[in-house]
Amino acid sequence: MTLFTILLCILNLQFVFPSVLRTWGYTFISLDIEYKKTDWLFADIKLVKIKKGDYAINGTFIFKKDITMDFLYSLKLFRSPRGNDDYKPLPFSVPQQNLETFFNGVYKDVVMEDLHKCTNLPYFQDRWNEPLKAQEYYLNMCQFNVDNWPDYLPNGFYKFDTKIYFPSGDVFVSAIATEEIEQTGLIGK
Ligand SMILES: *[C@@H]1O[C@H](CO)[C@@H](O)[C@H](O)[C@H]1NC(C)=O
Repeated sequence: MTLFTILLCILNLQFVFPSVLRTWGYTFISLDIEYKKTDWLFADIKLVKIKKGDYAINGTFIFKKDITMDFLYSLKLFRSPRGNDDYKPLPFSVPQQNLETFFNGVYKDVVMEDLHKCTNLPYFQDRWNEPLKAQEYYLNMCQFNVDNWPDYLPNGFYKFDTKIYFPSGDVFVSAIATEEIEQTGLIGK
């Protein structure tokens, strides 16, 4: 879901430095969205390949009840050299925080402008402190911009694990995306 776009963009935040060339390309391996409480959520979100090395996220999800700002969010990133189960944590994460902190921080600063072009998720000027309304949300072919990623990333499989939790701390929805990064030679940005 949108979280997936969010977590990709978080990498941008981590690596904001000027650059002109990168040496790697990426392939999406999988996107798994898991939730058990179907009385809270319905999601139909897919990764669409546009062309080699170019993907978009597309679909809709429905919150069946209002999502209050005391729900929690987290993002963890892992890497495995060969894509076996040997995934080691990387030092990039968004530690578990409530949605009010998340929306007024990482969301607003990093991904809101991009998401505004392809979704009906909150778009605001000052602070966001309302629940996410029970309604349908869309992601209309949201594309990933990797221009601000580092020029060099080592080959390997990268796993993004992002979660929303109920205020009690129980997992509400989990989105796990895996991508493979391979050196492709210099790519102009
Ligand atoms: C994108 O999602 C919408 C809504 O689910 C669907 O109607 C459309 O066919 C999808 N487009 C692609 C290219 O998958």
